Amino acid sequence: MGKKLKAGFVGAGFASRFHYDALCRVFSAEVEAAGVYSRGREKAEAFAAERSMKVFGSLEELIDACDVVHACVPPAFHEQVVVEALRRDRDVIVEKPFTGYFGQGVEDFNGDTFDRRKGLEEALGSVRRMLEAEAASKGRIMYAENWVYAPPVQKEKEVIEKSGCQILWMHGEQSHSGSHSPSYGIWHLSGGGSLIGKGCHPLTAMLYLKQAEGIARNGSPIRPVSVSARVHAITRMPSFQNKGFIRATYEDIEDFAIVHIVFEDGTIADVFANELSLGGTNNTLTVNADNHRTICNMSHNDTMETYTPSAAFFKDIYVVEKTETKEGWSKMAPEEGWFLGYQHELNAFYKAAVTGGPVDSNSTLAADTISAIYTAYVSAAEGGREIELKRL
Ligand SMILES: NC(=O)c1ccc[n+]([C@@H]2O[C@H](COP(=O)([O-])OP(=O)(O)OC[C@H]3O[C@@H](n4cnc5c(N)ncnc54)[C@H](O)[C@@H]3O)[C@@H](O)[C@H]2O)c1
Repeated sequence: MGKKLKAGFVGAGFASRFHYDALCRVFSAEVEAAGVYSRGREKAEAFAAERSMKVFGSLEELIDACDVVHACVPPAFHEQVVVEALRRDRDVIVEKPFTGYFGQGVEDFNGDTFDRRKGLEEALGSVRRMLEAEAASKGRIMYAENWVYAPPVQKEKEVIEKSGCQILWMHGEQSHSGSHSPSYGIWHLSGGGSLIGKGCHPLTAMLYLKQAEGIARNGSPIRPVSVSARVHAITRMPSFQNKGFIRATYEDIEDFAIVHIVFEDGTIADVFANELSLGGTNNTLTVNADNHRTICNMSHNDTMETYTPSAAFFKDIYVVEKTETKEGWSKMAPEEGWFLGYQHELNAFYKAAVTGGPVDSNSTLAADTISAIYTAYVSAAEGGREIELKRL
C-alpha cells in the first residue's frame, strides 16, 4: 500500500462498465475513481451518477485529474488517448485491439477493398507512435488483454515455466454469434472484423506463452516470425441462409478468420475467430507441449450447469455471454469476469503502477499482436501466402 491512485475512464460504454466493476476488486493498491470523460455527455453523466464519480469536459482535464487512464473507447481512438496520457506522464490501460488501420483521410474508404499493404504500414505507424510516446514518458502502456491474466492462462504459464517444456503447437479460438456493438461491423471504426476483434485474444495469449517459454528456458522470449491467413465474410454472402440467430449486419468486415503462426524456433500456433458460432461465447486455448497438453476453457466451463424447462423462469437471470436461449441445459457463468481475467488484469496493472514492477501484457506484446494481425490481412488478400512479420 502506498499512495491512493486515481483512475480516470475514457468512454462510458460496455468496457468502462466492466473496468469499473473489476476496479472495485483491486486489492494490490488503493484506488479511487476520479471520473469519466466520454463523447456524448448524457451517457457519461448516467455512467458517473451510478458510480458517484465526476464527469470531465475534456480528455486533458480528466488525464490531469488522475494517475491511471483507462482507454475504453472504440479502437480508432486508442492511439489518441494513449499518446495524450503518456504525454502527461500517466500510466494508461488500453483496451484491445491496441490500435489498427481505420482508413483515416481516405475518401470513400471501404474495408473490403483497401490495399492491405497500406493497412499494415499505417497500423505499424500507429504502433510506432504509441511506442515512441511511451519511450518519452514516465508513464507506461498496460495492454488490457484479459486472456493474458485469465487464471487458466496464468496457471499454464506456471506449468510451462516450471516443467521446462517446449510448446509445439497451440490452437486457440474466440467465437460467438455476433458482436453487440453497433460500431463493430464498420471497418473505419473497428479496424477489421473477426481477425482483429476476436482473434486478438487467443493470439496475444499464445504470443505471451511462447515468450514465457523462451524466457524460462533461455532467458529471451520466443517471438513470431511469419503468418498465413484466410478470412471470409460468410454472413454477407448472397447464399447465406439467415435464421435470425446470427448477426448479419456487418458492412465491410470479415466474420471468419484463421491464422497460422510460425515462431522463431519453428513451432506453430493456429488462431480461429468467427461470428458464426451459436451456443454462447467460445473462449478456448489448447497448448500441445513436449511434456504435457493443456486445455484452457475461459468459457464454456462446467463450474455450474443448470437446466430449466422454460426460459421464462430465467428472464431476469444472466446466464452466460451471448447464449441464444436459456432453455434446457446451460453452462451458467457465476463469475464470468473472473474466468476471463478482468479483475486479475486490473489488479496486476495497479500493482505495477504502485510498485513500478513489470507489466506482463505490455506494449511489446501489443505491438507483436498488431503486426501479426495486419500481416495476416495481407496474407489473406494474397490467398493465404506465408508472410514474414516486421518487428518493431
Ligand atoms: N477485453 C474485452 O473483452 C472487451 C470487450 C468489449 C469491448 N472491448 C474493447 O473496449 C473498447 C470499447 O468498446 P465498448 O464495447 O465499450 O464500446 P461502446 O460503444 O460500448 O463504448 C464506447 C464509449 O466510448 C465513447 N467514445 C467514442 N468515441 C470517443 C472519443 N473519441 N472520445 C471519448 N469517448 C468516445 C462512446 O461515447 C462510448 O461511451 C474497444 O476497444 C473494444 O474492442 C474489450
